[in-house]
Amino acid sequence: MKDAEGVEFLQWSLPKLGLVWPGYRKVRRQVYKRIQRRLESLSLSAVADYQRYLETHREEWTVLDSLCWISISRFYRDKAVFEFLEQEVLPSLARQILAQGESVLRCWSIGCAGGEEPYSLSLLWKLKLQAQFQTVRLVILATDVDEQAVARAQRGCYPPNSLSDLPESWRGQGFEHTDQGSSIKTEFREPVTFLVQDIREAVPTETFHLILCRYLPFTYFDASLQDKTLRCLVGKMRRGDALVIGKNERLPDGEFGLILWSEKEGVYRRA
Ligand SMILES: C[S@@+](CC[C@H](N)C(=O)[O-])C[C@H]1O[C@@H](n2cnc3c(N)ncnc32)[C@H](O)[C@@H]1O
Repeated sequence: MKDAEGVEFLQWSLPKLGLVWPGYRKVRRQVYKRIQRRLESLSLSAVADYQRYLETHREEWTVLDSLCWISISRFYRDKAVFEFLEQEVLPSLARQILAQGESVLRCWSIGCAGGEEPYSLSLLWKLKLQAQFQTVRLVILATDVDEQAVARAQRGCYPPNSLSDLPESWRGQGFEHTDQGSSIKTEFREPVTFLVQDIREAVPTETFHLILCRYLPFTYFDASLQDKTLRCLVGKMRRGDALVIGKNERLPDGEFGLILWSEKEGVYRRA
């Protein structure tokens, strides 16, 4: 597919899905490849034919939506954010729950892709903070709309480049290394529960002390869907709980009952 045709197609179709073109600019070629495969399976020869097909087959929009799920991730993505979680956010949340007489620190990783983000949090807690907060148990719910991503996350086996940002010693402590890749050890899997869930349609029932929502709604969703999603997230937080967004992302304008914890690291707390 020619780039100009692809751009035109995405600029036409993304808004109809509640998604925005700027989020896809850098990853558009990945989406083109998937659309190309879809054209072949429908025996269509050009993207203009696919546009006509979408206009007459409403159910195809669900397929196109799934072609727009971008599952790029890696362990310890934005290292400084994980350092800030280790030094400030998690100790503060652990002290907060102890002061409230609780012992479970509940986290939610939204758009968890292949599990890199929730497992990074699990490694961080067990290797750096568990000894200091022995009576606190960290549990992580990791959700993603993409069944295949969740299946990869449950397998928990990664190529070397996924692990390259992790501290060297963690690669040794956290993984079994085989010819097939690096497999996360059982003790770091234990705190994580995976669930296929579309953030546009459902949220878990419980509240969370820490929500990681990086490189999903605030990159790909349009303003109205961002607003709706953020209100859902804040509804899952109690006073003092933390929300982390991607380093280059911004929250939508409006009053959401959040106060900034660190602008540089994209961390907010519920007021
Ligand atoms: C770019 S990855 C971000 C992964 C991870 N949060 C990180 O920062 O490295 C975005 C993930 O969001 C998932 N996703 C896309 N739309 C979603 C939706 N509506 N609900 C839940 N997950 C979604 C994709 O399948 C993908 O795995």
